[in-house]
Amino acid sequence: MFKITVYLLLFITFSQATDKIVCYFSNWAETRPQIGRFDVEDIDPYLCTHLIYAFIGLNEDSTINILDYQNSIGNNAIRRFNNLRLINPELKTLIAIGGWTEGSERYSDMVSTLTTRSIFINSTIEFMETYGFDGFDLDWEYPNKRGGKPGDKENFIQLLAEMRPVFDERGWLLTAAVNAAYKSVNICYDVVGLNRYLDFINLMTYNLHGSWDNVTGHNAPLHPAENDWDMLLNVDSCVIDWIKRGASPEKLILGTGTYGKSFTLTNEKENSVNSPTLGAGELGPYTGEFGILGYYEICANILNGWTRSWDDTQLVPYAFNGNQWVGYDDVKSLQLKAEYAISKGLGGIMVWSVDTDDFNGICGEKSPLINQIKKTLNGI
Ligand SMILES: *[C@@H]1O[C@H](CO)[C@@H](O)[C@H](O)[C@H]1NC(C)=O
Ligand SMILES: *[C@@H]1O[C@H](CO)[C@@H](O)[C@H](O)[C@H]1NC(C)=O
Repeated sequence: MFKITVYLLLFITFSQATDKIVCYFSNWAETRPQIGRFDVEDIDPYLCTHLIYAFIGLNEDSTINILDYQNSIGNNAIRRFNNLRLINPELKTLIAIGGWTEGSERYSDMVSTLTTRSIFINSTIEFMETYGFDGFDLDWEYPNKRGGKPGDKENFIQLLAEMRPVFDERGWLLTAAVNAAYKSVNICYDVVGLNRYLDFINLMTYNLHGSWDNVTGHNAPLHPAENDWDMLLNVDSCVIDWIKRGASPEKLILGTGTYGKSFTLTNEKENSVNSPTLGAGELGPYTGEFGILGYYEICANILNGWTRSWDDTQLVPYAFNGNQWVGYDDVKSLQLKAEYAISKGLGGIMVWSVDTDDFNGICGEKSPLINQIKKTLNGI
């Protein structure tokens, strides 16, 4: 009995637990209409272990640019966000720089010389000290793509090497969100270098299919379809690939989405996976973007008569009505992904984003998706 207890204690002490729930908050969610409006006070401070405020940007001169100054500073959104730690002192808050809209060019220029990197790091220190975040998340989309340059791969690692001691001295977390798909990884990243300097890596294992494919496909399939046109464009293949390239499993945070990718079908009667499409799906009433629906919009659609299907091979649901089709994640697929993360010894689950889960509980329990992730990681 004693022996077993000792072994158990050793196991608990030394095994790397899959215990992080890293959730992004898109600060523009406070501009969504009516029930879609989501502000800092709508965040449940106990739902996630880490919360990331998205996004700040970069100026031409390599200093930090506070985008949306009126909300972030004028309305104190950043200060209110960090004050969530007064409610839950265990919570860690991070600031994300970059994102899709920021593009790549200024980041490419910033990392390219010692002087511009130093200007950026000094600006980062000032920002971190002023606003009191626990960590900094680099969301450069993407090195050596979208206006970036071939040297970006090495220069990005050089930046991290210079940031690391500065962050260690101050006890700050340094993380990055990365494109998970192998074709981009080849172009964008030195995985061994990222793994050496980052505390953890937010693997964007979503947006794997979308309207650019011209056929319906899942946002984040766990596995490939039978005879998939790309057998590697799925969550499991991405994780295996990142580990093979040198990422430590415990540093990998498996990205999941509380949203779906939507399509407009060419023919209403062809509504399975890999069906021809005319392009992106119609915009959601609250999220207001073509090709994307928040989970609360999808679950409401299903309550209003959309047909829901489960993909037994790729282990994710999809739903359709007329010529509209959406591939997404629900409680069941996220339970499977959380179990998958545990089985691979990953560091945890990342979620984009807290503001598109069903936070109002219009279809039942509040924030059912992130709550399911939490339950599964806690063994409930
Ligand atoms: C950044 O700050 C350090 C320490 O204050 C200083 O020595 C260095 O010159 C600064 N870098 C730039 C480019 O201003
Ligand atoms: C999708 O269709 C467009 C327009 O016809 C075409 O240019 C593009 O190559 C197609 N994409 C794929 C992945 O087949």
